Amino acid sequence: MNRKLKIMMLSSECVPFAKSGGLADVLGALPDALQQLGHEVIIIMPKYASIDVRKHNLRPFLNPLGVWMGSGAEEWCSVYMTPATKSVPVYFVEFNKYFDRPGLYHDEDFKDYQDNPRRFGFFTRAALQFCRDIGFKPDVIHAHDWQTALAPAYLKIWHWNDPILGNAASVLTIHNIGYQGVYGTEHYDYLGLQWHNFVSDKFEDHERINFLKGGIYYADLVSTVSPTYANETRTPEYAHGLAPYLNNKGKNYVGILNGVDYARWNPAVDTLIPARYSVEDMRGKAVCKRELQRRFLLEVNSDIPVIGVISRFVNQKGLDVLAGAIESIVNNMRVQFVVLGSGDKKLEAYYGGLPGRYPGRIGSYIGYNDELAHWIEAGSDFFIMPSVYEPCGLNQIYSLKYGTLPIVRNTGGLADTVQQYDEVLGTGTGFKFWELSSQAVYYTMGWAVSTYYDRKTHLRQMIQTAMTQDFSWETSAQAYSLAYQTAIANKKF
Ligand code: ADP
Ligand code: GLC
Repeated sequence: MNRKLKIMMLSSECVPFAKSGGLADVLGALPDALQQLGHEVIIIMPKYASIDVRKHNLRPFLNPLGVWMGSGAEEWCSVYMTPATKSVPVYFVEFNKYFDRPGLYHDEDFKDYQDNPRRFGFFTRAALQFCRDIGFKPDVIHAHDWQTALAPAYLKIWHWNDPILGNAASVLTIHNIGYQGVYGTEHYDYLGLQWHNFVSDKFEDHERINFLKGGIYYADLVSTVSPTYANETRTPEYAHGLAPYLNNKGKNYVGILNGVDYARWNPAVDTLIPARYSVEDMRGKAVCKRELQRRFLLEVNSDIPVIGVISRFVNQKGLDVLAGAIESIVNNMRVQFVVLGSGDKKLEAYYGGLPGRYPGRIGSYIGYNDELAHWIEAGSDFFIMPSVYEPCGLNQIYSLKYGTLPIVRNTGGLADTVQQYDEVLGTGTGFKFWELSSQAVYYTMGWAVSTYYDRKTHLRQMIQTAMTQDFSWETSAQAYSLAYQTAIANKKF
């Protein structure tokens, strides 16, 4: 029944080339899963200075590529690509003026680059021009987040009768509605969106330009990364101002749960962790726990539960709420914490200072470290995510596979992926709370810790259930396939 489609993915991140969060993980796996279903997929992203050209064996592919911006500016860039052996080709737009910088979106002090609207507006136009130059005629253009949200708009404004792009339907996936790309009107001419479109149901947002809002208007179909978050973002509490526009999309706004790349996140094959293990043979997990305790200078003791945290330090993740509970937890319960993350400077100072104040009981690493993320998933007993909101969340799904039970606030993708523990039946895969408060964190942690010490049979049963859950990408890729067909059927002009 499914037609085989040509799909172009536009993204600002993709594993293993550039990553700041889950978006990169999604782009590192979904395209392959779509290809497995028979579709032809290409990915295009910026060539940041941090991408190691030699290691990834990138080669020049197209030079020059001329991109006309709205202000009449003509930008000349070039395009690199991955070796032909890679199943899904990834193309990289090289343009030093915008991408020859250490960060993806901000400098070392987490200050956003001032020209971000121009950087990503340019990138998006370059990606579309690239299709035209090489004659790649997509059935679907799939854009992700505000950075590439202008793609559906450019298609409709500039390329509606183009022989290459004119038939392409557009899909926009919102990975996080907290980031909309809102900028001053001084960038509007350069972006080439035409002033008659600067109205409140398209780009205008309190006299500023809103990339995501415009993308929602123009996309043939909008999706987000879990069913619960799709429902939540239809309400003002969660939509950061965009609820009416999402509701306007009606059935053309859907939630599709992310999957997990089990080639990367699976303790049976993970080469980054100290020892491998599986649900049939858990001995390796004990080794991972011991090594984790050692590495973070915690008391090496297999009896004490270790609670892991891996997170960007931003409001969304509720780490201030955890901060209000963590010390009383450590003072009143026999537990250890391992924290990995970076972002907000106050939170960095707070979590960075805890090991000094609670030696042997709290370990932390302030920074970004992929290997440590794998170590924490494998070596912890529990994993906590007290998110204010969570579009999908990947770490809790990784945790399930590593037999590390998630303790989560029941929101967004956390609600969709973690099943509440039932003390009578001993079923479930984690511990959930609803209220966003340090007290709720404290009591839920107490519940998890007492289960750990006093109900070992239940704990074992939960771990087993967690590890055998299947969140592989195939199911999600099938849902995207259907979404693409809907977008094609719905394409209006
Ligand atoms: P988000 O995209 O909102 O940050 P997700 O749970 O979807 O949340 O994805 C986060 C991804 O980023 C996971 O793969 C996680 O392991 C990784 N990650 C987050 N912070 C760090 C860090 N400090 N070091 C290494 N990996 C990190
Ligand atoms: C965003 C969200 C996160 C989601 C990820 C991948 O960064 O914050 O919840 O898992 O995108 O879709």
